[in-house]
Amino acid sequence: MKYPKEYLDEIKLRLKVSTVVSKVVSLKKRGKEFVGLSPFKNEKTPSFTVNDEKEFYHCFATSEHGNIFDFVMKTQNLRFGEAVKYLANFAGMQPYVFSKHDEEREKKWKIYSSIFNQYVNFYHDQLLKNENYSSVRDYLKNRLLDKDQVKKFKLGFVEKNPKLFEEFKNNFNIEDLIETGLFYLDEKKNIYVERFRNRLIFPINNISGQPIALGGRIIEKSDFLAKYINSPETSFFKKGSNLYNLDLARKLSNKTDNIFLVEGYMDVIGLSKNGIENAVANLGTSLTDKQIFTLNQFFNDIVICFDGDESGYKAALRAAENSIKDLKPEKQISFLFLPNKEDPDSFVNKNGKEYFVEFSKKNKILIHQFIFSHYKKQTENNPSSLAIFDKKLRFIANTIKDTFIKKYVLEYFLEKISELTPHTSLNKNYFYVKKSKSLETTKKYFNESQSLTGVELKEFSLLYLMMTNLNLMREQIHILENIKLFTEMNKQIFEKIISKLKSGNKVTIDKLEIDAQLIEKIKKFAPIKYILKNKVENENEIIELLDDINRDLINYDLEFRIQELESKFSRDLSETTFNELKELKKKQNIN
Ligand code: UTP
Ligand code: MN
Repeated sequence: MKYPKEYLDEIKLRLKVSTVVSKVVSLKKRGKEFVGLSPFKNEKTPSFTVNDEKEFYHCFATSEHGNIFDFVMKTQNLRFGEAVKYLANFAGMQPYVFSKHDEEREKKWKIYSSIFNQYVNFYHDQLLKNENYSSVRDYLKNRLLDKDQVKKFKLGFVEKNPKLFEEFKNNFNIEDLIETGLFYLDEKKNIYVERFRNRLIFPINNISGQPIALGGRIIEKSDFLAKYINSPETSFFKKGSNLYNLDLARKLSNKTDNIFLVEGYMDVIGLSKNGIENAVANLGTSLTDKQIFTLNQFFNDIVICFDGDESGYKAALRAAENSIKDLKPEKQISFLFLPNKEDPDSFVNKNGKEYFVEFSKKNKILIHQFIFSHYKKQTENNPSSLAIFDKKLRFIANTIKDTFIKKYVLEYFLEKISELTPHTSLNKNYFYVKKSKSLETTKKYFNESQSLTGVELKEFSLLYLMMTNLNLMREQIHILENIKLFTEMNKQIFEKIISKLKSGNKVTIDKLEIDAQLIEKIKKFAPIKYILKNKVENENEIIELLDDINRDLINYDLEFRIQELESKFSRDLSETTFNELKELKKKQNIN
């Protein structure tokens, strides 16, 4: 039920954030803010701040951020309504009384919930105790389910010719019974029947753990019956709003950032049996914005793990395209693909928890990477196919609501596309242009010297230039002092030359005391010798070349750091990392 804004504002007015937070965290005043140890992380130095003026808290360690309602929901595992009740009470306010319409709905809910509870409890007891159900219990045993799982998930079995309706009729209105979706009128025979007769039933709970719908599985093979059926939509059950097992899984959100989203009931139960309890299922419908939003309220890291078959892959793709819209900074959605024909249930039963968790860590891929690789697979290496590919990816990136994430994903896509089409997008990136220009003539040597990296070759050029112009270098030593080298051996040679030059004496190449073999190697592979041989005569040109090399080396450095940050960013999606990345890219463009 929706609380009116005024009521919520009144609570906020009466309770400062620091008042609410300091019940859990001991705070120290610092300027306009308060600081303390984060309740979301074990830490020794405080990274948790509270700002009463702006009405929020922010945790720099975990990027948790929110108002008093968020704080109470997060730290006490409450849903919004419960947090409101708690805070209203704390603020000395009366609990909110809902309007006539709300009251009606509340009444209806009580009846609905009571029917559901009785129904679920009855068939759960039957499954545990009824003598006639031994074949069902055998079925469960075959599927490796024991009593603990049956109890935890309150599984039940509805007999073939159930009589519960007759009994319920004495206590409830027929209308109310029909409203639950558990019964319907068979118009041909004009009798009320139980929708889930002869099925194993899986109660679907709302977020507070009250059953509001069912899934039902046949346990004998049948050609004319669906393997699973679900409750129809009712006033209290909306497909696409609920997730199976969210009520239990959300309680783990203090312990883990991570939630597995799977396809089926049995996947959730199989994982749970193997000790992986942070799993929910979306029950065969396609994933909705609402479901992602709900999961994100509790977990930062959603791992979507559908069945390892074609329909699982298709469902994953649909989920990816749909949920990328709602991607937020600090939140992650990734995809895990299981080997062919496996589903999470079969996979975890075969391999156990440790293996599953490891496998997931190693193999999950981030949502934008998945989308990219999917469309890349569909693309042929010709201009029209590449153009469609480009357009599709831009379109997908543009559906992202968060502008910061949109920008990042767009850049990611464009960069990956430009890697695929190096000749068409004459690279905006100076570094690549430079590299191809100055190193073109040395392709032969590149092949000959596969063990040498681009950086090493660049450094060789520098050293070569220095060694062949020692006098000039001595005069221009200030230029050399700003140059940074990367490979250890070259760095040593570089420093040796500099120290010799600084010694004041006239230096010649044989006085450098550098291993002759190394000098040979440099001479052989330094790409720059081709340029020198052809045209360079005057000193200015040599200084220019030195500048060029220096710039290229700086770009190597930037490129390194950018790659590092990009991989960091794809892991943490944090705004700080993104900003650092932006700065580096800016520098790269200037160079
Ligand atoms: P699966 O067929 O993968 O089911 O469908 P499962 O969970 O692996 O089941 P078992 O192991 O065969 O018992 C995944 C989900 O899709 C929905 C159900 O929610 C199921 O859990 N589904 C499937 C249906 O709604 N109807 C169907 O006929 C089949
Ligand atoms: Mn399955």
